[in-house]
Amino acid sequence: MSLASFIAALTPLLEPRSLVTDAERIAPWLTDWRGRWTGTSAVMLEPGDTAEVARIVAAAEEHGVALVPQGGNSSMVGGATPPADGSAVLLSLRRMNRLRDIAPGHAVAEAGVILHHLHEAAEGVGARFPLDLGARGSATVGGLASTNAGGVQVLRFGTMRAQVLGVEAVLSGGLVHDGLGGLKKDNRGPSIDQLLIGAEGTLGIITALRLRLVPGRVHRAVAWLGLSTPGAALDLLRRVERATDRIEAFELIPASSLAHVLRHIPGTRAPLAAAHPWNVLIEAVSPEGEQPPAALLEELLGKAGVADAVIAQSLDQNEQLWRLRHSISEAERSEGPAAQHDISLPVDRVPGFLVDDARAVEQRFPGTAASGYGHLGDGNVHFHVRAPQGAARDWADSAEGKAVSAFVHDLVTAAGGSISAEHGIGQMKRDELTRIAPPARLQALRAIKRAMDPHGIFNPGKLVD
Ligand code: FAD
Ligand code: MLT
Ligand code: ZN
Repeated sequence: MSLASFIAALTPLLEPRSLVTDAERIAPWLTDWRGRWTGTSAVMLEPGDTAEVARIVAAAEEHGVALVPQGGNSSMVGGATPPADGSAVLLSLRRMNRLRDIAPGHAVAEAGVILHHLHEAAEGVGARFPLDLGARGSATVGGLASTNAGGVQVLRFGTMRAQVLGVEAVLSGGLVHDGLGGLKKDNRGPSIDQLLIGAEGTLGIITALRLRLVPGRVHRAVAWLGLSTPGAALDLLRRVERATDRIEAFELIPASSLAHVLRHIPGTRAPLAAAHPWNVLIEAVSPEGEQPPAALLEELLGKAGVADAVIAQSLDQNEQLWRLRHSISEAERSEGPAAQHDISLPVDRVPGFLVDDARAVEQRFPGTAASGYGHLGDGNVHFHVRAPQGAARDWADSAEGKAVSAFVHDLVTAAGGSISAEHGIGQMKRDELTRIAPPARLQALRAIKRAMDPHGIFNPGKLVD
C-alpha cells in the first residue's frame, strides 16, 4: 500500500474540495456515535458525483489503499469507523446529497441524502417515505441501505430492503452498476442490488438509490399505555393485528428505559400518572375520510381492557410521545456502561426472553441489570445489560463485558434468533458472527466478499474476517 502515491494519483482526477486534508474537518468523523471506537484517516475523500467515486475506487485498487464508506456516521456497530492503524481512508458520501428525481411513487436519491430531508421532500409531493428512526437527522439513504436499517415502521412496511427499487453503485475496477432503471422485472441472474443492501460497504460503494414512496395523505394518532408484563404487550399486539391493518408501530419500553429518558433528556415528562413495569407506544393511521385513528385506538384499547393509557390529542402530543421513544438510545448512552445487543427472535419468544433469559443473565453475572426495549412487532429488541456499579466506561469491551455478550448471543441462538436484527455486524459483532454463524452462511459470505472485492479495499475488518 502507498497512501502517498494514491493521493498523488488522485489529486488531478478530483475536484479540489473532494479531497479533504484538514485534520480538524476529519476529526469529528473518526469516532462512532456511541464513542466506542476511534480510527485514523490521513485524508477524507468527499466526492461530488459517481464518476469521482469510480476514479477513487480504481485508484484505491491500483495503490492498495482501503476505503471506509461513511454516510451520517450513526452506525451502532462501528461500521463506518476506520481502523486505528491508518491503513484505510474515509470515503464520505455526504456531499452526494441531490434528489435526482421525485414523484408520488418514487424518489431517486443520491447516497448522501439525509433521511429527514427525504421525508420532507416526499411530503412536498403528497407522499411519504415509510421508514423512520431516531437518527433521521444524520443517517443517509446510502447508510440505511448498506445496513438494511429497520426502525419503527417495519411492522407495516418492512425494512430498507423493501423500500429499495434499484441501486447505483461503484464496484471493483471502478465499474458502475446501474440498477436505477425502475424495472419491475429483471431476471438476469441473482440481483446485484440485493447483494449490496445490508453489505455494510464491504462489497462496493452505493452512490444512488431508487426508493419507493407511499401515499402521504393520512392522519395519525399515538397512544401510550402501561402494562405489567411483556406477555400482556404481546397479547395486545396479536389482538390489534387481528382487528386492523392500520397499525404502523408497536414499540415496547420497560420502566427502566423510560426512567433513563426522564432523567437525561431535558423537557421530557412521564406520559402516565402511574409508573408501570412495561409501556407500549402504538401508532395508528387512517386515510382521509375514514375513521380517525384516535377513535380507532380508543376502540381497540377499550375492547382489550387496557386500564391505563393516554391517546395524543394533537400533532404536538404525538411528537411528545414519540420523543420519549426516540430518545431512549441517547438516554441509555448517558446512563453509563452497558453491553448492547440488537437481537431478533420469533415474535412469540420475545416476552419469555425479556423475563427468563434476562434473569439468567443477571444470575450468571451478579450486579448486572438486563432489559430490552424496541420493536416488539418485529421480534426485535435492543437488549442492554447494564454494568455492575462502578464499572469502567469501556466495560463492554472488558473480559466480563465480552463474556456477557457471548452468553446473550448463545441464548439468542438457542432460541432460534439473530444476533443482529437491524444494526448490522460492523466491527462490534464480527468475531461473534464468526463464532456463531452456521458454516454455510459463513462460507457464502466469505466467497461473495472474495469475488466482489478481490483487492480487499472495501471496508476491511467489518462484517466478515
Ligand atoms: P454510517 O453510520 O455512516 O454507515 C453505516 C454502514 O454503512 C457502515 O458500514 C458504512 O461503511 C456503510 N455505508 C455508509 N454509506 C455507504 C455507501 N454509500 N455505500 C456503501 N456503504 C456505505 N438503525 C436501525 O436499523 N433502526 C433504528 O431504529 C435505529 N435507530 C437509531 C437511533 C439512533 C439515535 C442512532 C444513532 C442510530 C440508530 N440506528 C438505527 C443505526 C443507524 O442509524 C443506521 O444503521 C443507519 O442506517 C446508518 O446510516 P448512516 O448514514 O449514518 O451510515
Ligand atoms: C432504536 O430502536 O432506538 C435503535 O435501533 C437504537 C438503539 O439500539 O438504541
Ligand atoms: Zn431499533
